[in-house]
Amino acid sequence: MRPSLATVFAVLAVALLLNNCRAAAEWVTCSGIVPMRYRNDKISIMDFGGVGDGKTLNTKAFIEAIYQIEHLRRRGGTLLYIPPGVYLTESFNLTSHMTLYLARGAVIKATTDTEHWPLIAPLPSYGRGRELPGGRYMSFIHGNGLRDVIITGENGTIDGQGEVWWNMWRQRTLPFTRPNLIELINSRSIIISNVIFKNSPFWNIHPVYCSNVVINYVTILAPADSPNTDGIDPDSSTHVCIEDSYISTGDDLVAVKSGWDEYGIAYDRPSHDITIRRVTGSSPFGGIAIGSEASGGIEDVLAEHINLYNMGVGIILKTNIGRGGFIRNITVSNVYIQNARKGIKIAGDVGDHPDNNYNPNALPVVKNVMIKDVWGQGVLQAGLIQGLKNSPFTGICLSNINLRGTTEPRNPPWKCSDVSGAAVQVSPWPCSELTSTYQAGSCSSSF
Ligand SMILES: *[C@@H]1O[C@H](CO)[C@@H](O)[C@H](O)[C@H]1NC(C)=O
Ligand SMILES: *[C@@H]1O[C@H](CO)[C@@H](O)[C@H](O)[C@H]1NC(C)=O
Ligand SMILES: *[C@@H]1O[C@H](CO)[C@@H](O)[C@H](O)[C@H]1NC(C)=O
Repeated sequence: MRPSLATVFAVLAVALLLNNCRAAAEWVTCSGIVPMRYRNDKISIMDFGGVGDGKTLNTKAFIEAIYQIEHLRRRGGTLLYIPPGVYLTESFNLTSHMTLYLARGAVIKATTDTEHWPLIAPLPSYGRGRELPGGRYMSFIHGNGLRDVIITGENGTIDGQGEVWWNMWRQRTLPFTRPNLIELINSRSIIISNVIFKNSPFWNIHPVYCSNVVINYVTILAPADSPNTDGIDPDSSTHVCIEDSYISTGDDLVAVKSGWDEYGIAYDRPSHDITIRRVTGSSPFGGIAIGSEASGGIEDVLAEHINLYNMGVGIILKTNIGRGGFIRNITVSNVYIQNARKGIKIAGDVGDHPDNNYNPNALPVVKNVMIKDVWGQGVLQAGLIQGLKNSPFTGICLSNINLRGTTEPRNPPWKCSDVSGAAVQVSPWPCSELTSTYQAGSCSSSF
């Protein structure tokens, strides 16, 4: 019996529907974490005497515009429009319920007058500046205790002119820790999208003690030899979603953190529910990084669909004796690596303490780390996994990993110690610590 035309159409319709559902389910996005807001009230930096000639200082214009947004408190917030042009300015603070909108061709450029750069207190979870004891320079664009902030536009640029700071670092003439390009402290409902970040003096985007942060469609650029120019560092923050971005800098592309040694342990603020998706980039350091400052704990991190080129290390988890805290339930999947010194590194010995008061008995716990579906070529060493003797890393699971490269005969493709877990379909064949200790159930159900 031949099926009727109606049956054929019905079957086709169901097939189409199923297919659409599948396609929709696969293209997951950050949407829902922070509501997008369209603001009816708009002002322009030009209304406050803005001059986009690249030479005139616009600090007063930014401060007055943002003061007006803060004090007039228009319903639904206010958009501050930056038209095409180059707006030189000193650092400034944002306020709640605002959108900073950079038109195509708009550049907000940091002054290179490092002598008059404001200083702020160290973060309690770090106890001191990250580079040097004492306070630290305020980020170029700064926010503290804010909510409902959007930084967006048509891919205008925020330029940190970091060279002067990098040179001070190189010449060891820095008096305090260098400024981040953007730091938001204790803030929530943040969107950063469709903006280019260039030449940050130090870390680029630093949300710390924040929740509900979406960062997407951003481009972050700094030279490969620029010191400590991390791309995005979610720090003691929750529900942070980073996606569809290109990052090429001189340090880790994305590094999830949560405070430093005894200060981070005392402050006790973890990072959790962090998603990193469809990020592409290159760096002489790490691609997807966890730590090394992880003293408040880091859990429930998912990184997927990551493309890395010319890397130091593709995937890196790093901690240390004295850090305390935990790193657990970390999943990294669908990673492509082209040219790297190492594919995967999980290390408990990175050193680097804030001072000598760290507790040598504060051992970090690293467990339940799933790394799967990783494909690499030109990877000189597949993996280095070194746990701590008195706190071995457990539940380290590798699945469907293929890392090709020109391994030197002296250098085994995998090196492991003080670690247990499992490995399935891993090539080159990993170390015996991961293959001989295999037990069903030693990896989580997502294995
Ligand atoms: C900007 O914020 C910082 C840190 O919250 C604060 O110390 C500083 O006084 C603020 N600057 C201005 C001009 O309001
Ligand atoms: C900005 O750049 C990103 C990355 O190249 C791109 O995906 C996005 O569409 C651009 N946005 C605009 C508004 O041009
Ligand atoms: C592990 O983290 C993922 C997010 O990456 C989360 O969905 C899941 O619930 C977490 N699992 C456990 C057991 O907490």
